Amino acid sequence: MPKLPSPRTKPDNRERFAQRGDNDGLSDDAALRAALLAWYAANKRDLPWRGAEAPYAIWVSEIMLQQTRVAAVIDRYTAFMARFPIVTALAAAPQEEVLALWSGLGYYRRARMLHKAAQLVAADYRGTLPATSAELRKLPGIGAYTAAAIASIAHGEPVAVVDGNVERVLCRLAGWEEGEPALRRKVEERAARLLDPKHAGDFNQAMMELGATLCSPRNPQCAACPLFAGCKTRGEHKTAPRAKMQSRAVGCALALRKRKGKEEVLLEQRAAAQTVMPGLWELPVLRSADVLAEDLRLCVRHAIMQVNYDVRVRAAGEREVKALAVAGGQRRWVPLDEAVSLPLTGLARKILTRLRLLPSA
Ligand code: ADE
Repeated sequence: MPKLPSPRTKPDNRERFAQRGDNDGLSDDAALRAALLAWYAANKRDLPWRGAEAPYAIWVSEIMLQQTRVAAVIDRYTAFMARFPIVTALAAAPQEEVLALWSGLGYYRRARMLHKAAQLVAADYRGTLPATSAELRKLPGIGAYTAAAIASIAHGEPVAVVDGNVERVLCRLAGWEEGEPALRRKVEERAARLLDPKHAGDFNQAMMELGATLCSPRNPQCAACPLFAGCKTRGEHKTAPRAKMQSRAVGCALALRKRKGKEEVLLEQRAAAQTVMPGLWELPVLRSADVLAEDLRLCVRHAIMQVNYDVRVRAAGEREVKALAVAGGQRRWVPLDEAVSLPLTGLARKILTRLRLLPSA
């Protein structure tokens, strides 16, 4: 059954399009912009970086939001900004601390690049982020999308943001299918033409917000969409099927001991060649995921990119760890009250928190 949105849920903007007869909507960009901006003003989510004027705050939020759900970002952003409120504070921090505050967000390369770029801004730009998208793009980790987001939101530069959400919204509006020739270029040109040059920051955020909320990949809420009347597809646009998740079982060792009245846990930092998360601390990884029931302390599921890990945590003494685990880079006994502020992998933090060895965030 095709999804047919109720035509009367939000009549105001729809009627504007319908009465004018421009049901392709794309012929009246001014009306599309106005409808989108009105919807955004009334419906935008209240997020800690909204209303921030400092380009640095916008930069941090946009980097965190890449490939990461808003819900996962909110607390991390707040803690990060409390510790590094200005770019020079971030630049001066040791990388270990930056990674620790990134813990759980994944894609740690983003944190390393952000840190490196902050150091460049502190050293070469006297602590002030460049104001134009062209200059911003020269910094490590800032590509076209991030540069456009910062420059438009912080400075009103009329440059369109095109992320995955915006691309989906524009393709649905125009009826463009995935695989069409030169789709990316068409989308970028369309985004640039549709942009409201007087309200570039709000327009860009509104497009991203629409894609993240109503115009979602699999269950678009067309009935509530401010652009319904101007949309060619109205819920009938196909979105590429979700990438198939793989499943993998892994085992890791939980070795605990008491020293000077403090409980310590054995953690390892794998050599850069052995891991996609260099610099982060984790529980020693076992050679086999086969764990006997009597040794099993916990089972957790953990997704990293396209893989669902079924993680079995085995209790082990230090000697056993040597025999059972893959040779690590370096291992260290860490008092639990210090482990809290180490850059742990999201999985290690999850396991230690579930076992109540670390406080929950
Ligand atoms: N996704 C990434 N950045 C965003 C923003 N500034 N507003 C809404 N969604 C976003």
